[in-house]
Amino acid sequence: MVTHYLRRCALLGLCSLALLGCSQTPSPSLYQQLGAEEGITQIVDGLLFEIEHDDRIVHHFADTDIPRFRRLLAEQLCELSGGPCQYSGGTMQESHRGFNISLADYDALVEGLIKVMQRQGIGISAQNQLLGLLAPMYSDISYR
Ligand code: HEM
Repeated sequence: MVTHYLRRCALLGLCSLALLGCSQTPSPSLYQQLGAEEGITQIVDGLLFEIEHDDRIVHHFADTDIPRFRRLLAEQLCELSGGPCQYSGGTMQESHRGFNISLADYDALVEGLIKVMQRQGIGISAQNQLLGLLAPMYSDISYR
């Protein structure tokens, strides 16, 4: 009886896997949806512009080596989105230590990022995927 039940479960599992397999249309990776290397460079440059013009957060970057930040953020977004890069910067905890970044600061930066992605015509689903990958980093970034 038990084995019968288990077999039914296994079969159901296999069937649903098969159905999933059939119904899934291959979608380009998030990296491609963000416009690959060129698109990500544009996102980072757009975000730097937004930060520069945002009085709420620009003070955090007063002593930052901007070319380094630009390079590392691009590397990170590339790797996170499935691109052919390897992030070579510090951990999020190390990199944000001493800045005491609040939720309001985080929201301001994300607001800038969304503006840039909208401007670049990146689809809502890709935008949300990227934001979803960044959201868990908040606990490492904030109040360090
Ligand atoms: C979406 C979340 C964020 C990501 C993915 C992120 C990513 C990064 C990366 C990759 C670096 C360079 C790390 C290194 O130098 O090794 C960095 C540095 C930095 N981040 Fe963030 N960051 C985020 C949120 C924020 C927020 C909300 C602020 C402040 C409003 C902020 C302020 C800074 C500053 C000031 C630096 C430079 C630190 C320094 O000068 O040494 N970050 N971040």
